Amino acid sequence: MSQDAMEKRVLDAVRQRREVVNEAVDDDLPMTEPDRLYEATRYIIKAGGKRLRPTISLLVGESLAEVEPLSADYRSFPALDGWEFDLLRAAMSVEVIQSFTLIHDDIMDEDDLRRGVPAVHIEYDEEAAILAGDTLYSKAFEMLSDTGARPEHEVEAVHRLASTCTRICEGQSLDVAYENRTDVSPEEYLEMVRLKTAVLFGASAAIPASLMGADQAVIEGVYQYGTDVGRAFQIQDDLLDLTTPSEQLGKQRGSDLVEGKETMVTLHARQQGVDVDNLVEADDPANVTEAAIEDAVGVLEAAGSIQFARERAQELAEQGRSDLTMLPDNEPRQLLDDLAEYLIARSY
Ligand code: IPE
Ligand code: IPE
Ligand code: MG
Ligand code: MG
Ligand code: MG
Repeated sequence: MSQDAMEKRVLDAVRQRREVVNEAVDDDLPMTEPDRLYEATRYIIKAGGKRLRPTISLLVGESLAEVEPLSADYRSFPALDGWEFDLLRAAMSVEVIQSFTLIHDDIMDEDDLRRGVPAVHIEYDEEAAILAGDTLYSKAFEMLSDTGARPEHEVEAVHRLASTCTRICEGQSLDVAYENRTDVSPEEYLEMVRLKTAVLFGASAAIPASLMGADQAVIEGVYQYGTDVGRAFQIQDDLLDLTTPSEQLGKQRGSDLVEGKETMVTLHARQQGVDVDNLVEADDPANVTEAAIEDAVGVLEAAGSIQFARERAQELAEQGRSDLTMLPDNEPRQLLDDLAEYLIARSY
């Protein structure tokens, strides 16, 4: 299959599952009082998002159940022993955690734009944003503990989501600490992004496998897939921060340079002698110009740092694809394979 045909197939697969997830929001996250709190939680979810993580959850479920893609009822999905459970609610729970992390991340990174609209702390205020994040965080556990799966499988899945959230906090803490370091190694960077980003991809794949009652080897195999492609995904996110206009990205281009984030690009550039800390002059991500970022990207390209990061992302995506042999060889597995490639080829 050509690259274009593969990309269209995977984009269709994500879009179809995104539509299913979006339709489920009103049922799984009902509006209640106080209005302002629930409006702020709805606001981030309704703003959009690619829904990559719940798509992975649905595809892992479909592959293990060996059903035709999109043919089974996600609300009463067959586990491996025939016991039925709500796979869609489990998929929603990882998207709700994702949305919670974005709200708090934008406060930490001082970013005003998210999913193409003002960030929650800008549209509302910081108090509302912290509470909306906390509410989504706890809602996700309400949802995941109410899928109707076999109790022992549900406990395992809830534990996975809880430990994932602990890891995300550890990773975000390292991400902030690395702003004050100039000697971060590729290994340290990869461990930081494994924690802040990749474990949620891992959980998105492992949680449905647990709920289905799959063998531990399968659960660990798909978890490995998620953490490999999740690290590749974060390298691509760092590249897009440099290369893609804010309108296309839906978030502020160049934010990482202004905030002094260490990425696979900047750590390589430092090794090449680039004065990374003075590449752009702005005190706030909102004040950086596209022209200043273009100039900085020129320097990073000349140092070979963009290419270096792309190659590391490619290696991790390949590694992720090789983890999929634990799943039955069927169309949903092929889509997960294609998705690994798409995560590093995407332009937003
Ligand atoms: C953004 O994730 C946060 C990172 C881990 C880099 P996405 O790019 O998946 O954001 P949405 O969910 O589509 O908005
Ligand atoms: C975010 O990483 C990881 C999270 C846990 C949210 P980034 O800070 O790079 O994410 P964006 O670029 O703001 O989406
Ligand atoms: Mg950020
Ligand atoms: Mg961040
Ligand atoms: Mg980013």
